[in-house]
Amino acid sequence: MTAQLIDGNALAKKIRAEVAERAAALTARGKQPGLAVILVGDDPASQVYVKHKVNDCETSGVRSVLDKYEATLSEAALLARIEELNNDPTIHGILVQMPLPRHIDPQKVIETISPLKDVDGFHVQSAGALMVGRAGFLPCTPYGCMKLIETTGLSLKGKNAVVIGRSNTVGKPMAMLLLQANATVTICHSNTADIGQYTRQADVVVAAVGRRNVLRADMVKPGAVVIDVGMNRNDEGKLCGDVDFAGVSEVAGWITPVPGGVGPMTRAMLLVNTIEAAERAAS
Ligand code: GUN
Repeated sequence: MTAQLIDGNALAKKIRAEVAERAAALTARGKQPGLAVILVGDDPASQVYVKHKVNDCETSGVRSVLDKYEATLSEAALLARIEELNNDPTIHGILVQMPLPRHIDPQKVIETISPLKDVDGFHVQSAGALMVGRAGFLPCTPYGCMKLIETTGLSLKGKNAVVIGRSNTVGKPMAMLLLQANATVTICHSNTADIGQYTRQADVVVAAVGRRNVLRADMVKPGAVVIDVGMNRNDEGKLCGDVDFAGVSEVAGWITPVPGGVGPMTRAMLLVNTIEAAERAAS
C-alpha cells in the first residue's frame, strides 16, 4: 500500500473533544445544548445509528432526547411532535432518523423541522443556503468529508474534483462544498458513460453511490485523495465501501478506510451542527 490512511476515528475524537468544550461553556451559562432524535419503527440499522448518536451526545455533554415510536405512528402525530420540539427552547437540534415507514412522507417531515434546528442539513432552506453560500446547516456527511480532505493539507483551489453519486444528502451538497473551495467539480452518476474518464483526471474523488468497487485502481490518478462514503457488505458479509480499497490504495496518495473513515465523521459533524445551533440560539 502506498496511500496514506486518513483516520476518521482520530479526527472525530478530536472534534468531539472540541464540541465538549463548547458544550461545557454553554452549560455553564445555563444553556446546555439539546438534540432530539426521533426513531419510527424497528429498522435494525437505524436502531444502531440512533444508539451511537445518543451515546455521542452523552460523551460530549450534549443533552439528548430519544423519541421511539411504533412503525404505525401516523404522519400527523409525527408532524405534531416535531412542531412541539420546534417550540421547545431546550432543544436546539432535531433529527428524524431515515428511512421512515412508507406511509410517512419524508420530505414533509424534513420540511416541518425548523431550519434553525435542522442539524441534518436536509431542509430545502439549508440546501438553498448552501447553494448561495449563506450560513445554514451543512449535511453531516459532506461536511465531514471536507474535514477529512483538509487533513491531507491539499489546497482544493484549482484542483479537479469528482463526486460519484448525486443524492440530495451526499453527492449534490458535496459537489457544492468542493466548488465553494474553488475546485473544478464534476458529478458522475448512474448514466455517466465512462466514469474512469473523469476520475483519472481528478486530484480528489469522493465515492458516494452505495455499491462496491465503483472506483478501481485503473480509474485513479496517482497521488489522488480518495474519500469513500460507501457502506456495503462484501460476499463474506464484511463491511466495505464503494472503493476497491486494496487496489486503489496502491495508486492513491490518501484514502479513507471503511469502517473508520467517513462514518465517524458524519456523527461528529452532527454534534458540531447541534453546538452551532445552540450557540446561535444563545447569542
Ligand atoms: N439515515 C441514514 N443516515 C442518516 C442521516 O445522516 N440522518 C438521518 N436523519 N437519517 C439517516
